[in-house]
Amino acid sequence: MEHLVSPSLLAADFNNLENEVLMINRSEADWLHLDIMDGVFVPNISFGFPVMNAIKKITSKPLDVHLMIIDPDRFITRFKEAGANNLTVQYEACTHLNRTVTEIRNLEMRAGVALNPHTPVSLLKNILPYIDMVLIMTVNPGFGGQLFIKESYNKIAELRRIIDEGDHKVLIEVDGGIDTINAPKLIESGVDVLVAGNSVFGSNDPVRTISRLKQLL
Ligand code: DX5
Ligand code: ZN
Repeated sequence: MEHLVSPSLLAADFNNLENEVLMINRSEADWLHLDIMDGVFVPNISFGFPVMNAIKKITSKPLDVHLMIIDPDRFITRFKEAGANNLTVQYEACTHLNRTVTEIRNLEMRAGVALNPHTPVSLLKNILPYIDMVLIMTVNPGFGGQLFIKESYNKIAELRRIIDEGDHKVLIEVDGGIDTINAPKLIESGVDVLVAGNSVFGSNDPVRTISRLKQLL
């Protein structure tokens, strides 16, 4: 399939949020990636429902919501109401992951599971039939603008093999330190969705950068 691009709003200019969202609307982005952090699962706090509600009013893109929070079960319905189309939870934050992803799917959102850099993809074997997407964290979660961890290529290749062998309908998303330089190799390794924060919003022409991530020219 043709790969998707999901710009991460965390790197946007928050003094100019409306224009940043409208810029994404005009771009070739497939989704808009929203990072929700609770200051417990990760050492940072980002934004929550009031900001999401405001974004939902003006975005034309599906919302790709990445929860870096403990005990996400408490908020699944709230994220649905706030307009999430994809809801990704961290593997490390879920004791009853099967129940969590089933509830996400029952609310007609795509269910995603994110893995921290140290969490092996082999742990996903028994959850793959129940989910729509795996998000491989290619940096330690919590902050934008970090360096891509190169070991991720092996993880992606291994996950691609497991998904294809089991004939699972599961997308592979990568998140952290993605740019136009490493994107081609990531797509070659079997990635379906590229998340990019700083490389998009920090560039001179974000619309063109998104286009380059789409076309990989
Ligand atoms: C990090 C977040 C990422 C972040 C990516 O914890 O999950 O989505 O915004 O930012 P960049 O692309 O700048 O590494
Ligand atoms: Zn993210």
